[in-house]
Amino acid sequence: MKLNTFLFLVFSTLVILISCKKLLPDAAPESELLDGPIDGLTTDETARFLKGDIAFKEVFTSSKGLGSTFVASSCISCHAGDGKGHPSTTLTRFGQPDEFGNLFLDQGGPQLQHRALPGFAPEQIPAGATFSKFTPPANTGLGFLDYVTDATIMAMADPNDQDGDGISGVPNWIAVPDYVTLRPNAISQNGKHISRFGKKAAAYDLLHQTVNAYNQDMGITSTFNPIDVYTHQEIDPEVSNQSVQDLVFYLRTLKAPIPRNQDDPEVLQGKAIFNQLNCAGCHKPTLTTGYSPISALSNKEFHPFTDLLLHDMGAGLNDGYTEGSAKTAEWRTPPLWGLGLSALSQGGSFFLMHDGRAHSIEEAILLHGGEAATSRGLYQNLNESNRSSLIAYLMSL
Ligand code: HEC
Ligand code: HEC
Repeated sequence: MKLNTFLFLVFSTLVILISCKKLLPDAAPESELLDGPIDGLTTDETARFLKGDIAFKEVFTSSKGLGSTFVASSCISCHAGDGKGHPSTTLTRFGQPDEFGNLFLDQGGPQLQHRALPGFAPEQIPAGATFSKFTPPANTGLGFLDYVTDATIMAMADPNDQDGDGISGVPNWIAVPDYVTLRPNAISQNGKHISRFGKKAAAYDLLHQTVNAYNQDMGITSTFNPIDVYTHQEIDPEVSNQSVQDLVFYLRTLKAPIPRNQDDPEVLQGKAIFNQLNCAGCHKPTLTTGYSPISALSNKEFHPFTDLLLHDMGAGLNDGYTEGSAKTAEWRTPPLWGLGLSALSQGGSFFLMHDGRAHSIEEAILLHGGEAATSRGLYQNLNESNRSSLIAYLMSL
């Protein structure tokens, strides 16, 4: 090879390498990714996590049982990258105006299936039914929340506000479906149990949530819930028990978001303000799991920023729709871990609170009323620099 040709080849290879580096974005750092497993799983557990990940991504079509009415065709279409979902994937539920049950079960309640296979009629909200819209929450760190004991949750509840801080969290007491296995030492009241997942905390555990999602979001029956969403008749399961259980295992072992910039002085200042404003009265920074057969989740301290309890959030957040024993203005404290990453999975903007109505963290804080009115008032009295420190802290979670 002539020297010129050699030099030309070296030069063009370099040009290609440099331009490719520009074209390919740097891989996102681990602390910005949500879809990996928790640390410390055994080889078998990791294999099961991967099987569940496949079930999470499975796209249902009419030949696989989708519908006949449905909202979406896969879990991942609403929970992209396991982060918070965009408002275009919002669910609507209707028909329960108080804690005494849904009045519109024979007219398609509780969930609106606004899409249908060809030849079938999509549902509409019946006249007179109050309704609420829910944007998809992130699916991260749920195994930690699943293994918090009922006793731990009850210790945070304060129904009569005996400590006089204006905050009186209560659990959502629900009648659990037959297929659910109660937690060890489950606490009950009038035959009902403490429920914890979902915006109103109306799903007892990750199996309950998953079975409901298959059935109500995609029109997919399982042995756990064999009732077809369209005909209300029992039909053969359209998803296997194995897939359902693998999917539950996946949700349990999906890692918790990793906090960022924890040593930044502004973040540290914001953390102190978070406590001063008693945001931590509901968004509890630290919880501990009880025993779990998955040792990576057993007796572990973690930082979700929730108490898993319902709080009256005032008239502004009262949609007139409810679930279980929750009242219409009551919402479960959402975990704040991963908050700073939520815009990444919501198309670049924030859509916060249960229906995504808040377009920034500040707007979300200003919508707090009811039991959180004192905290909101204290926030409004902060000067500009303290407000930014608080936001910097929330962005770092
Ligand atoms: C149409 C969009 C959509 C689809 C499809 C969907 N979800 Fe969801 N998911 C949501 C919304 C909205 C919520 C909040 C609902 C609520 O609060 O009750 C939610 C809540 C959850 C939660 C509770 C999280 C928490 O913090 O309490 C889990 C777990 C979950 N979904 C898992 C799944 C799984 C597994 C599938 C597939 C079998 C699935 N979802 C399919 C929209 C969807
Ligand atoms: C009385 C309990 C309570 C207190 C005190 C409280 N919050 Fe909340 N917070 C909630 C509940 C409940 C929601 C969900 C409301 C909804 O979805 O409509 C929420 C939602 C949020 C959200 C939106 C989260 C999301 O994923 O959409 C942010 C951010 C937030 N709170 C921050 C704060 C900050 C900062 C403070 C202190 C100034 C605070 N909260 C005080 C209960 C509380």
